[in-house]
Amino acid sequence: MMTKRWSVDKNVDKEESYPQLSQAADLLKNNEVVAFPTETVYGLGGNAENDEAVKKIFAAKGRPSDNPLIIHIADKRQLDVFVQEIPEKAKSLMDLFWPGPLTLIFNVKEGILSNYATAGLSTVAVRMPDHPVALSLLKTTGLPIAAPSANRSGRPSPTAADHVWEDLNGRIAGLVDGGPTGVGVESTVLDCTDATPVILRPGGITKEQIEAVIANVHIDPALADQGQAPKSPGMKYRHYAPDAPLYLVEGTREKIQQLVDEKRQEGHSVGVLTTAENREFYHADFVFACGQREHLETVASSLYEALRHFNHTDADIIYSEMFPDEGVGQAIMNRLMKAAGHRVIR
Ligand code: TXA
Ligand code: MG
Repeated sequence: MMTKRWSVDKNVDKEESYPQLSQAADLLKNNEVVAFPTETVYGLGGNAENDEAVKKIFAAKGRPSDNPLIIHIADKRQLDVFVQEIPEKAKSLMDLFWPGPLTLIFNVKEGILSNYATAGLSTVAVRMPDHPVALSLLKTTGLPIAAPSANRSGRPSPTAADHVWEDLNGRIAGLVDGGPTGVGVESTVLDCTDATPVILRPGGITKEQIEAVIANVHIDPALADQGQAPKSPGMKYRHYAPDAPLYLVEGTREKIQQLVDEKRQEGHSVGVLTTAENREFYHADFVFACGQREHLETVASSLYEALRHFNHTDADIIYSEMFPDEGVGQAIMNRLMKAAGHRVIR
């Protein structure tokens, strides 16, 4: 399949973007799949009401069929079409954080969305992305659009159009290039079907931000305990992994350097994932810095790109620093732990 690629203005201010966006919207309306930027990561969109379109998403990604998709909307009124009821707490959160990186889980109305999109569950995940290109596409189609991250299953999520191209060129109908995304980690997934909402996946909106609105929020215990089955089907899969094995190291940079030296003496090609502050400290075959430790949102923003970088090197082992488990650091550590297959050197 030939993948069409359009380069559009991030703010959709320029008139030359309109015909391109309308071509992309036409493909979506014709039940083809198109990748587009959101404020978190690039998504691979398809008509959520159409089985064939949704099946194409799963096929292009190589995604297991028991992992449901997030439905993207541009207007809150679209919710009434396919959601049973909107709890008061969810309403307060939507008022404050939509559009934005917060996905809410509701009980689904039968018979409207493709069962492939919900993986046959009685609930549905919904969000309104905070990106002019995504919102413009959603409005033009008028459809609920199912959109997982636009990467091949298991790989780091794409934060630039080139990452999507690397993974999906030839497998999807179109790619709308709106430049790099901002937040860099995916949306927070919050289950609102119980009296006390539960965070199923930490993400762009922090636990602290949610607590400021609804006082009481739980975190799925499976996120901290590998022995338990997570409530979000996608959280059980290995994900975000670079090609070479990644190890997280708890301890000083001196300790990490010592590990690097040992492996290099054994003849390995060693990579280090760090931040700007420590960039010059390490001596390894490949050192990549993602953001500044002082500003965790800059780490989130460039984390996946840094993980992808290693795939363009011949590093055969990677060591990474760890980050504080608070604020957006919770999402960063969640993704790093998965990328490392939970290998931590203490
Ligand atoms: O930021 C994001 O959320 C990005 C952009 C493209 O919007 N999308 C994204 O989608 O991260 P995806 O498919 O990579 O992750 C969706 C997550 C998975 O862990 C999935 O299991 C979970 O949401 N999920 C979807 N529907 C669910 C449901 N009904 N109950 C529990 N978890 C659900
Ligand atoms: Mg994903």
